[in-house]
Amino acid sequence: MKILVIHGPNLNLLGTREPDVYGTFTLDDISASLSQLAVELGCDLSMVQSNSEGTLVDSIQAAKGVFHGILINPAAYTHTSVAIRDALSAVALPTVEVHLSNIHKREEFRHHSFVAPVAVGQISGFGPDSYLLGLRALVHYVRQQAKG
Ligand code: DQA
Repeated sequence: MKILVIHGPNLNLLGTREPDVYGTFTLDDISASLSQLAVELGCDLSMVQSNSEGTLVDSIQAAKGVFHGILINPAAYTHTSVAIRDALSAVALPTVEVHLSNIHKREEFRHHSFVAPVAVGQISGFGPDSYLLGLRALVHYVRQQAKG
């Protein structure tokens, strides 16, 4: 099983970015824990980070026929991007949306997600564990779907 992990804008700054909100772990730390979990779950991961909406849309479009599912933290584009939502909807791959912080506990503009209605589900507020929980949920979901 092949899973595409997508990180949106500013997540490359994890470690130094608003540590009171996002903690001090880096994106490389998250990638390392995800890779370790992928071995346990028996899946292959590819990871992409971009600050550009168009690049994220291109990555989602290119995932069709290659990956079985998408784990995505769309970051700020969660709250603004119809283009990312449409791309996810177009490829129709099972998608799990994750957030480090609990977006529903923060400013009101973060409460709405354009991605959530086209995702299998959303995991928000568990720090780096959101990614690990999200990967477990996605792999389990894809395996269940394959069983019919
Ligand atoms: C985030 C939450 C978003 O509101 C914010 O714009 C981010 C990170 C999170 O992981 O908590 O960049 O997606």
